[in-house]
Amino acid sequence: MDLMQKIRENAKKANKRIVLPEGLEERTLKAADILLADEIAQIILIGNPEEIKKEAARLDLKHIEKATLIDPLKHEKKEAYADLMVEIRKSKGLTKEQAMKLIEDPLYLGTLIIKAGDADGEVAGAMNATGDVLRPAFQYVKTLPGMSVVSGAFIMIFEDKSIGQDGMLIFADCAVHPNPTAAELAEIAVATGRTTRAIAGFEPKIAMLSFSTKGSAKHEMVDKVVEATRLAKEMAPDLLIDGELQADAAIVAAIGKSKAPGSPIAGQANALVFPTLEVGNIAYKLVQRLAKAEAVGPVLQGMAAPINDLSRGCSVSDIVNLVAITANQAAAM
Ligand code: ACO
Repeated sequence: MDLMQKIRENAKKANKRIVLPEGLEERTLKAADILLADEIAQIILIGNPEEIKKEAARLDLKHIEKATLIDPLKHEKKEAYADLMVEIRKSKGLTKEQAMKLIEDPLYLGTLIIKAGDADGEVAGAMNATGDVLRPAFQYVKTLPGMSVVSGAFIMIFEDKSIGQDGMLIFADCAVHPNPTAAELAEIAVATGRTTRAIAGFEPKIAMLSFSTKGSAKHEMVDKVVEATRLAKEMAPDLLIDGELQADAAIVAAIGKSKAPGSPIAGQANALVFPTLEVGNIAYKLVQRLAKAEAVGPVLQGMAAPINDLSRGCSVSDIVNLVAITANQAAAM
């Protein structure tokens, strides 16, 4: 069974409640129809229920009636959610009046449904920019206890099964946090280990990447990775983490052995943590294009509940897959 098939099967067993705030968007509705037909998740669609039904009929979708439809302008919990918003953001000066307005925005409503315990996760972004999807999530769902940053991992899948773990490598952060401190980078490494277990389904061997291997170069950028490695090991003694390593020392057995003798993971890393978003984002796109790897993600990690962001160019099957991934994350929590 390939990885996505396994993820869909696990999602079915978990039977989680996933919110799709862009309930009137065509690809989202088509994806919801497939998710409901295949019972991959319970689906909550946000949008005017009459318009959603009309659109579903126009698209000849047969399963949308099994979704829960929530009208962002009028629904029974609107005021309770607005009160919750005020409670969470009172130190930021949010008033009840502002909250009553904000809660009509499906992207805010989606995160409040999760915060209130009425759903397990969310997938959005088919028609909204990354920042607009993430901001409400950061502000209301927030990070997991012990984590202060959200980051994004990709599962890179190669035809050549000798690469990484049976043809898979996990890359992070490739999507969210531009310039992490050493402490934040340590959190990203730990979150990446957890994502590897929960989504890719194998035991992570995490390399903290740099342009230096075990002191071969001296620079403040290298110091950051050395410190992040120390902190990550302290945070998660259950994870195999080592650094600082160059990419070749991380993934090529002979080079790992000669440049980092004694390292528990050098030459056999299957999860690569990049020192900045710039490096991570460029690296995943180059590997995707030049090595023709399939890039599954970004899988957002570090959040107190799983919320994932689609690319605006996404396909129906991208949405189905991301909902299944989100359900797997919810099940792992
Ligand atoms: N993790 C957790 N919380 C965060 C994070 C983070 N990584 N970043 C910001 N926040 C919180 C802030 O603490 C703040 O909370 P507060 O309101 O309670 O004080 C809130 O989110 C808003 O913070 P801002 O600094 O105002 O963040 P902004 O909304 O401007 O930006 C964003 C956040 C959009 C994620 C920004 O970091 C960003 O643009 N990142 C890059 C995303 C990107 O373009 N990725 C590449 C493309 S994706 C791809 O190629 C797959």
